[in-house]
Amino acid sequence: MCCCNSIVVLLTLVLNCCYGYKVLAVFPMPGKSHSILGEGYVRHLLAAGHEVTYITPFPVKDPPSRLRQVDISENFAFMRNILDVRKFMSKELDIQNYFLVHNVMNSMLYDTYRMPVIQKFINDPKEQYDAVVVEWLYSELSAGFSSVFNCPFIWASSMIPHTAVLSLIDGHVNPAYSVDHLSRDYTTTFWDRLYHWYYITKLSYQRWSERDTYNDQFKNVFGEAITRRGHKLPQFDDVIYNGSLMLGNSHPATGDNVALPENYKHIGGYHIKDVIEPLPKDLQKLMDESKDGVIYFSMGSMLKSSEIPDDIKNGLLEVFGVLKQTVIWKLEQVIPNVPKNVHVVTWAPQQSILAHPNCVLFITHGGLLSIMETLNTGVPIIGMPFFADQYLNIARASAKGFGMRLDLDEKAPEKLRVAIKNMVENPSYRQSARKFSAIFKDNIASPGQQLAYWVEYVIRTQGAFHLRSPALQTSWYKKLSLDIFLVLLLGVILSFKLCKSLLVVIKNGSGHKKKTA
Ligand SMILES: *[C@@H]1O[C@H](CO)[C@@H](O)[C@H](O)[C@H]1NC(C)=O
Repeated sequence: MCCCNSIVVLLTLVLNCCYGYKVLAVFPMPGKSHSILGEGYVRHLLAAGHEVTYITPFPVKDPPSRLRQVDISENFAFMRNILDVRKFMSKELDIQNYFLVHNVMNSMLYDTYRMPVIQKFINDPKEQYDAVVVEWLYSELSAGFSSVFNCPFIWASSMIPHTAVLSLIDGHVNPAYSVDHLSRDYTTTFWDRLYHWYYITKLSYQRWSERDTYNDQFKNVFGEAITRRGHKLPQFDDVIYNGSLMLGNSHPATGDNVALPENYKHIGGYHIKDVIEPLPKDLQKLMDESKDGVIYFSMGSMLKSSEIPDDIKNGLLEVFGVLKQTVIWKLEQVIPNVPKNVHVVTWAPQQSILAHPNCVLFITHGGLLSIMETLNTGVPIIGMPFFADQYLNIARASAKGFGMRLDLDEKAPEKLRVAIKNMVENPSYRQSARKFSAIFKDNIASPGQQLAYWVEYVIRTQGAFHLRSPALQTSWYKKLSLDIFLVLLLGVILSFKLCKSLLVVIKNGSGHKKKTA
């Protein structure tokens, strides 16, 4: 029996070692939440028995044996101090503009990939991969790694599917019933649709008109490595539309249910570990003893709550101070005059706090990872959005009945007082949160298992060409049926003209008859 078991274990080990693939995961964004997404890929691919090389500005300590890391943390220098709470509040910084964000990200990636550490890596002939996973973040440049290793690549998309990513594997969304991911309003009025349409047109035009620039950047970064390995240098325009699959940090419980191509797969929730870690002793005790419930307040990892202006911070403390609930506030600084029921922490185990049965409300910036974690545990939210998709994440939570939006401005403390009372006393928010939590967790296989399955699937099917959308090969005027409309229009005009001439002929004919009669 014992011997049998060891044979099984041995066999599994041997099989794993022989059938494990080599996967390169490229998550170059120097932002904490993006490294959480990258680490999710690494964790699940390792668990499935593969070897992973991880390009990241946040290398993990003591990596397991099948993980190698390429440390690009020098690229923090290219992104210094872009995200600042005060700049968002004063509207000095507006990154709801795709083209602005695109320029920042594209040049950040261009600089990152020309760093010696990356050049050495791609020019090393010993580096060989079966597949590359690249995060899409407002630039397509990372797709170039697939040309170096001559292998299929998979887009990792961090947001609810939107037109800028879907157009890389299929076509644009229909503005009639979809809202763009950077919109602040969750509506499709005439003006919203006009703007969305304008954005789609401008995006298509920009990708087309700038294609030579992108091709030059691709050649400068990857050209030498590609030709050295004896591969033909492709046109970058052909590379970016060559993604085998897109794995999205999205879930039907969070999105708008727009039609998706066969090679888009939802894996939202994969960053959440199967077993939530226990709380540290002091927090466990605090939460256990908070019989009236706990409100958890955190602005995520990219923004610092310490940058909230002092008068607003004091206003918030006053509001919190009169609550019967305990408030756990993640703040990166020590502040004076903290009321007794407010517990300020510089670091918080968010998932463990949300999972505690006494947690009744989450006040969040509305980042998608936080939304998924709140769905995982069924806690309603008050959302204070600052940038990117946060507005819509919160709007969607409101529409689904488990969230409420509140802007962080001078009036925030007073509005928050009303909102907290409403959220805590009205059970419908909690009920909706539980309902959508059940949907979020009802999956055919865990998101992490699906992630590993689809990466293996792409390798097994040599690029999953059978899943690709015909829309990529179709001209834009055909997709808009412009040629058909044109022919129909001509047909109508010609028939009209013909009828008119016929009428004239008949009239003249009968008139002539009358005269002669
Ligand atoms: C597209 O991907 C396939 C593998 O998935 C690869 O063989 C081919 O060379 C790629 N073409 C371009 C232009 O990148």
